[in-house]
Amino acid sequence: MTDPQAGESGVRREGFLAGVSLVASGAATPHTSVSNDALSQRVETNDDWIRSRTGIGARHIADEQEGLTSLASAAAREALAGAGWDPASVDLVLLATSSPDDLFGTAPRIQAQLGAHNAVAFDVTAACSGFLFALITASQYLRTGAMTRALVIGADQLSRWVDWDDRRTCVLFGDGAGAVALEACSPEDDGLLGFRMASDGRKADCLSLRQVAARQDLIPGVTVQRGGFEPIQMNGQEVYKFAVREVPAVLQELLAATGTGAEQLDWLLLHQANQRILNAVAERLGVPEHKLLSNLASYGNTSAATIPLMLHEAVSDGRIQPGQLIASSGFGAGLSWGAALLRWHGPVISSPAA
Ligand code: UT7
Repeated sequence: MTDPQAGESGVRREGFLAGVSLVASGAATPHTSVSNDALSQRVETNDDWIRSRTGIGARHIADEQEGLTSLASAAAREALAGAGWDPASVDLVLLATSSPDDLFGTAPRIQAQLGAHNAVAFDVTAACSGFLFALITASQYLRTGAMTRALVIGADQLSRWVDWDDRRTCVLFGDGAGAVALEACSPEDDGLLGFRMASDGRKADCLSLRQVAARQDLIPGVTVQRGGFEPIQMNGQEVYKFAVREVPAVLQELLAATGTGAEQLDWLLLHQANQRILNAVAERLGVPEHKLLSNLASYGNTSAATIPLMLHEAVSDGRIQPGQLIASSGFGAGLSWGAALLRWHGPVISSPAA
């Protein structure tokens, strides 16, 4: 009998265009929370300025026991448990981070901690767009049939790269991790209904965490670059203008391409950078305030972690329910930005109000 998927050569096509399902989520944040008032002991700032300009009230800061690998592993473990997966059944561990514990790749260390021995594990670097880019990247392997189960993690520990004497940047960032369990499913159950991704490296200097320029002598006549990074540098106003211009545009384009009206959205899940940016995007799209997810007050900007951290919080407290439609957008250094239209699959968690 001939194989219906085999071509004339008799070679069987390995992949098929499956859907991808967002099955479960997880998150982890450091224990230590530093309030705006507490931070004002270090730099000349105050709660009123930070809250009114950004919506941030506190940020969590990792201690010696809570490095990036352990936060990311804890978030991924929770997603694994929520999905009810055996770690050995995971095919891919993708870590979005810009503050790795190991520049050669931190994802393999997480894979080892999880016992996901059959998974390939690697890092994706795209700053605050990282989680969304990683989710879209992982979904490509699942769609083609090359893989079945992926853990997508967004984690950052920017507290080690912030200049704590620069009040223009240090008040914004915090540490954290979030994760999603992603599984191939039938096309009818697809949870990634559309996406867009973009970069503009001409504006890379607006927000950077760059290699130091220092060199050292190797032998007479030859110098080598010394490894190490400068603290985060940011042109806040330029990044702000970029975000309020590009994020509504990319979301509008995605909604139009998928034939989705803004009124059909259950939630707007944006990278948590600044409450004023979130409000401006929601307003531009015509999405009411009660559908705009925000946890900036507790965590600040945790870079690649903000989207899965916020997702997990809203799933855990029963706000996001299975089958609901979520428009998400990540944006930041690169400059980079993107959007995804998601349908949350599960698991079912009863709402506290129900
Ligand atoms: O993931 C993407 C990450 N980045 C972002 O999303 C950043 C986007 N940009 C922003 O969120 C805003 O530009 C900031 C919150 C960073 C700054 O807000 P702003 O309204 O653009 O303030 P500004 O930089 O224009 O500064 C206004 C004033 C300045 O004083 P003068 O020159 O007017 O006397 C600053 O020195 O506020 C002063 N200032 C502060 N004062 C108290 C700046 N930072 C602080 C501070 N506390 N932490």
